[in-house]
Amino acid sequence: MIKYSNLLLKVAAVFGLIGAGLGGHMAGSSDYAIRPIHAHILVVGWLTLFAWAVYYRVFLPKNRILAGLHVYSAIIGAVGLTGGMALYNFRPDFLPSAVETAFYIGGGAILLLSFVFFCLLAFMQKDK
Ligand code: HEM
Ligand code: HEM
Repeated sequence: MIKYSNLLLKVAAVFGLIGAGLGGHMAGSSDYAIRPIHAHILVVGWLTLFAWAVYYRVFLPKNRILAGLHVYSAIIGAVGLTGGMALYNFRPDFLPSAVETAFYIGGGAILLLSFVFFCLLAFMQKDK
């Protein structure tokens, strides 16, 4: 499962970079409107995906299909939730608000599914 570990590691690194950059901007501009976006990019995109990158390096998941579902829902969910949150916050004119809401809720729901898959994998885990 090194493949999944490497993929999650790289996506987590990009989230970390973007999140820290937004944190710096927020501190510099004293405008805290993006605080929840900054927070989720870092706690979901950086910390959670990094933790899962380490999981795939340390453990051997018991079910390959579940592992695939977990990894892809994690990445799609993290991008969907944070991207949707940003769209929902700033409501750009070129998008109907229903699209923004769907992005946000869809991303959040996929991310939740990813936590369900991970929970199943965790309870299937045997000695090694
Ligand atoms: C370049 C580094 C960073 C800067 C400059 C920065 C800056 C900030 C600022 C200015 C706030 C808003 C504080 C407020 O509302 O009073 C904030 C909130 C937050 N940051 Fe960062 N941050 C950085 C890195 C991180 C990292 C690495 C994490 C997590 C891994 C993180 C997680 C959070 C969270 C969870 C909040 C929300 C806290 C709350 O709701 O009370 N930040 N950050
Ligand atoms: C399942 C999808 C999730 C949704 C839909 C969601 C949604 C939200 C919302 C609406 C807020 C309030 C933001 C505000 O104050 O304006 C919030 C705050 C927060 N959430 Fe989430 N969240 C999700 C997952 C997570 C996860 C997985 C984590 C941690 C790994 C997390 C960590 C936090 C933190 C630290 C705050 C406080 C941030 C702040 O004060 O700016 N969330 N979340």
